[in-house]
Amino acid sequence: MNKEFEKINHCLKQIRNKTDFEPLMAVVLGSGLGAYASKMEVVCEIPYSEISGFPVSTVQGHDGRFLFGYVEGVPIVAMKGRVHFYEGYAMNEVVLPIRTMGLLGAKYILLTNAAGGIDLDFSPGDLMLIKDHISSFIRSPLIGENIEELGVRFPDMSRVYDAELSECIRKAASCEGIDLKEGSYLQTSGPQFETPTEIKMFRTLGASAVGMSTVVEAIAAHHMGMRVCGISCISNMAAGILDQPLTHSEVQTTADKIAHKFERLVSILIKEIGQLKEV
Ligand code: HPA
Repeated sequence: MNKEFEKINHCLKQIRNKTDFEPLMAVVLGSGLGAYASKMEVVCEIPYSEISGFPVSTVQGHDGRFLFGYVEGVPIVAMKGRVHFYEGYAMNEVVLPIRTMGLLGAKYILLTNAAGGIDLDFSPGDLMLIKDHISSFIRSPLIGENIEELGVRFPDMSRVYDAELSECIRKAASCEGIDLKEGSYLQTSGPQFETPTEIKMFRTLGASAVGMSTVVEAIAAHHMGMRVCGISCISNMAAGILDQPLTHSEVQTTADKIAHKFERLVSILIKEIGQLKEV
């Protein structure tokens, strides 16, 4: 068996020794959704540190664990905390939790993050539906021997973000009176923020927001046939737009401010997705 697939299955087995929960949907809780556990009826929690071979976040305040439970009666597995490439993990390790959730049975995945706004019509505190992404500046998580059990060697990326799920996000936002923005998300390796010239370049290339996660997760999830959707919390305007330096605390403060709105959107979305007919 492919070595990487063996590793994922080893993690899966350890989880299965603790719970037989079958999630319909996976949710990656980015900044702004750190307290989402309180909106879930949690039936089981597994800290990543209890899964041997699992990457554990080194970022302060990024508590890492799987939460298994229900939102509006829909069975979900949520990742509270993710690992990033800039922490020094290889890309296959960064996406290992995503693949594990896929193998746990999740058919749908919602990816969330905090991002810098590149589109000049955005403001800090906005929520952006991720319509597409730019992965050209980072290493692909699919490099290495292909895991045939998950997907093909050369996967199509022309529709990573599922049209029906994106429509559910629009519907949920409209239900809540949220002025949802839309755009393409570009991932950098980080951990440094961008320069103003890089942001100008990214805008020219068609990016609306920039961040240090999510794209590789979307690629891995799409590769294995999960239906993907994503939402960015615009936590700050990207470098050079406002006359002020960027800080992690600004990112955190804005994300915390809109947490309530973000949580409501996600709960309605999960309910909508729970009502979709299987395709
Ligand atoms: N750049 C990169 N990543 C980010 C930003 C940003 O401006 N804001 C939040 N994550």
